[in-house]
Amino acid sequence: MAMSLAKLSLFAMLFFSSTLLIAKSDYAEILLPEELGLKTRKLTHLHFYLHENITGPFPNVIRVAQAETTDKSPFSFGAVNVVDDPILVGPDRSSKQIGRAQAVMAFASQNDFAVLMAINLAFTEGKYNGSTVTILGRNMVFTELRELPVVGGSGVFRFATGYVKTSTHFMDLKAGIVVLEYDVYVFHF
Ligand SMILES: *[C@@H]1O[C@H](CO)[C@@H](O)[C@H](O)[C@H]1NC(C)=O
Ligand SMILES: *[C@@H]1O[C@H](CO)[C@@H](O)[C@H](O)[C@H]1NC(C)=O
Repeated sequence: MAMSLAKLSLFAMLFFSSTLLIAKSDYAEILLPEELGLKTRKLTHLHFYLHENITGPFPNVIRVAQAETTDKSPFSFGAVNVVDDPILVGPDRSSKQIGRAQAVMAFASQNDFAVLMAINLAFTEGKYNGSTVTILGRNMVFTELRELPVVGGSGVFRFATGYVKTSTHFMDLKAGIVVLEYDVYVFHF
């Protein structure tokens, strides 16, 4: 036999995979990652603080909706807040700002303070300026250490996946200030 069966099937595999690569319809094509300039995947660790006025003349969090029964729920079930917090490199309000954390939070549990959170971290400094990281997950806001998934990103953070560890660094309800600490671990190219 001129060609062994193994060689033949290898040949067939290469033939079909190369036709897959050039297969193209009028709206879709299959690319190699290098064609988009995607080379090595990086793992970046970001560490920062969110500063949040929860009361006062310039609150960073506002209630935009709630159910008729929300005030009777010990867990604010049915409430929806919108958040716009400065992202700071340190825990003090005066430390350098590197972006904004903009979010929608829905109090989604009848039995504890579990919040459905969608957060865009929008960076405004250095090589991350203009890039975003998107977080979507369940936030048990009164648990010491919370973990939320990173589900995507833009700019530097295209193809982002990862997770966030967050905790409440400081809370003074009388003064209306909460400071949150964030550790973001994100894979991207
Ligand atoms: C709320 O944040 C603003 C800055 O965005 C700050 O000027 C103000 O003092 C803060 N209010 C409180 C009560 O911390
Ligand atoms: C970030 O990018 C914006 C838009 O391109 C630009 O106006 C701004 O000066 C940049 N900020 C920094 C700190 O580089």
